[in-house]
Amino acid sequence: MLADSYGRVATDLRVSLTDRCNLRCSYCMPPEGLEWLPKDEVLTDDEVNRLIRIGVTMLGIEEIRFTGGEPLLRRGLTGIVAASTALRPRPQTALTTNGIGLARTAPALAEAGLDRVNVSLDTLRPDVFERLARRRRLPDVLEGMAGAATAGLTPVKVNTVLMRDVNDAEAPDLLRYCLDHGYQLRFIEQMPLDAQHGWRRDTMVTADEILDRLGAAYRLDPADDHTRGSAPAELFYVDGGPETVGVIGSVTRPFCGACDRVRLTAEGEIRNCLFAREESDLRAPLRSGATDEEIAERWRAAVASKLPGHGINDPSFLQPSRPMSAIGG
Ligand code: 5AD
Ligand code: SF4
Repeated sequence: MLADSYGRVATDLRVSLTDRCNLRCSYCMPPEGLEWLPKDEVLTDDEVNRLIRIGVTMLGIEEIRFTGGEPLLRRGLTGIVAASTALRPRPQTALTTNGIGLARTAPALAEAGLDRVNVSLDTLRPDVFERLARRRRLPDVLEGMAGAATAGLTPVKVNTVLMRDVNDAEAPDLLRYCLDHGYQLRFIEQMPLDAQHGWRRDTMVTADEILDRLGAAYRLDPADDHTRGSAPAELFYVDGGPETVGVIGSVTRPFCGACDRVRLTAEGEIRNCLFAREESDLRAPLRSGATDEEIAERWRAAVASKLPGHGINDPSFLQPSRPMSAIGG
C-alpha cells in the first residue's frame, strides 16, 4: 500500500502523459507556451505501462486518471489505456482533457476500456474562450464533450475555473448548458499553479462566491456529506435534484486530510501532492535495470513523506516550481 504518516492511503494515480498542450489557459501557461520536455526525458509507453502495472498490482492503486498537459496529444494514449484496463484487479480509468480532438478519439478510447472523461470548459462565449485560452477552439471542445457522451464515456464531467471579470458572470449559463446536455459540472477554485505566478488570493473567485452566483439563479441544497468521501467536490442538488453541481474549494475549503492521490509526471517523477516541493525520480531506476520491487519501494517512500496539507493559506507558502501542465491535474 501507499500509506503516508498521517494515515492516508493513495489509491488514485494521476498519470501525466505529456507536458504539451494546444491551449494556453491563462491560469496555467503564458501566451508563448513553455519549454517542452525533450522527447528522451518523457517516459516511453512501455515505461508508463510498467509503472502503472507496479502501481496497480503491487501498491494498491485502484483508479488511474490520465492527464497532461493535454493527454490527447500523446500518440500512444489508446494503447496505454488498453494496457491499464487489461490489468487485474482492473483499475477504474478516466481522462482529464481540454476536449480538443476528443470527438474523433472517444470511440477508440471507449473501446480501449476508458471509463470516464473530465473536460475543461470555462466559457460558452467564443470571444472569452479566445481571451482565456488564447486559441479559437471552443467548437472543438463542445464537440468533444458531445462525442464523449455518445461514445459512452459517461458521466461526462466538466471542470470550470472561474476568473474574476473574465468568466465569473457565466457561472449560471455554464450550469444550464451542462444540465441541458446531461454533463456533471464542477467549479474549481483557481489555485496558484500558473507558470507566470499571476495567482492572487485577493482576486481569486472563492467557493462562497461561486455558490452565491449560482444561488441567484438556482435553488441549491447540499447533497449528503457522506457522498463527498475523498472526492474533493462538495455536491449540491440543483432545483431539488436529482442533478447536482459540484464546487471544489481547493484553496478556501481544503480537503487534504482525505486526499487519496499520487501523481506521476510525464518524465517519471512521483509527486505526492500538487503542491509538493520535492519529487522522487522513478525514471533513473527504470532505465538502469531496477526490479519491480525496487521501484515499488522508492514509490512507497515517496508517498510516505507526504505533508499533511498544501499550505496555500500559510504565510510561508511557496508555489511549486512547475505549473499544472507539467504536474498533471
Ligand atoms: N487552478 C485550478 N484548476 C486548474 N486547472 C489548470 N490549472 C488550474 C489552476 N491554476 C484545471 C484545468 C483542468 C484541470 C486539469 O485542472 O482547468 O480542468
Ligand atoms: Fe492546456 Fe489544461 Fe493548461 Fe489549459 S489548463 S493550457 S488545457 S494544460
